[in-house]
Amino acid sequence: MKNNNLPIGIFDSGLGGLTTVKEFIKILPNENIVYFGDTGRVPYGTKSQKIIIKYAKQDINFLKFKNVKIIIIACGTVSSIVPKISTFDLKLVSTVKPTINAAALATKNNRIGIIGTNATIRSSTYKNELEKINKNFFVCQKACPMFVPLVENGITNENDPVAMEIVRRYLEEFKNKNIDTLILGCTHYPMLKQVIRKFLPSNITFVDSGKETAKFTANILLKKDLLNSSKKPGKYNFFISDEVSIFKEQAKRFLKLEKFSVNEVSIEKF
Ligand code: DGL
Repeated sequence: MKNNNLPIGIFDSGLGGLTTVKEFIKILPNENIVYFGDTGRVPYGTKSQKIIIKYAKQDINFLKFKNVKIIIIACGTVSSIVPKISTFDLKLVSTVKPTINAAALATKNNRIGIIGTNATIRSSTYKNELEKINKNFFVCQKACPMFVPLVENGITNENDPVAMEIVRRYLEEFKNKNIDTLILGCTHYPMLKQVIRKFLPSNITFVDSGKETAKFTANILLKKDLLNSSKKPGKYNFFISDEVSIFKEQAKRFLKLEKFSVNEVSIEKF
């Protein structure tokens, strides 16, 4: 039986996956979305692999319980260790493949930078996968652990001196690497794009992992004939693991949505 009208399930450790949701609203406005943001346990990127796997399994179980037709791991950190999370029967899409494909297409000089959380960079998954596509790629990577708290606290304005200083500390070394493509390998980072843009040479193409993952998934749904046939605007139901009021404001501002629900869930039960 086809499950076209079931929602798409998306999860992240917090706000970051909203970059994927935003792209879906643009390209597939009739799809229903169930989102889980683990705001009570964010960040994931500073945690050990054992803990990230435990959290990811609970997030996946919750979305399965919500009866979704596909699950998108809109979190670079979880995506970078996905082969280690083996308990699923449902189609699972991670950020790695869509992101590296987009970067490989974007680069002209074969020099690519990757930024992500500690756990993502430690895994070297993006780097290894890129080098499988082309062994002549020069790939440099850097963990930027302070970016997630900046985003979660709404410090993302390009004129904010704190945001600018933190970006400078992490990205100074990219200035003379002659990269022409930069992977924003954590779904939170596009929210800091203006600050990063202001700091780095303007010829660098940014690859937004959240956005690329939405486009990639839309293609899978199309190929598998799983697109929602309804002509009505999609319904957006957000679940988070902490108090809802701040997230509600942030989601409203970032997604420019009027109608959506946000509820708290006890994720430890899943
Ligand atoms: N947004 C996530 C990522 O893409 C996780 C950030 C975190 O929780 O540390 O990596």
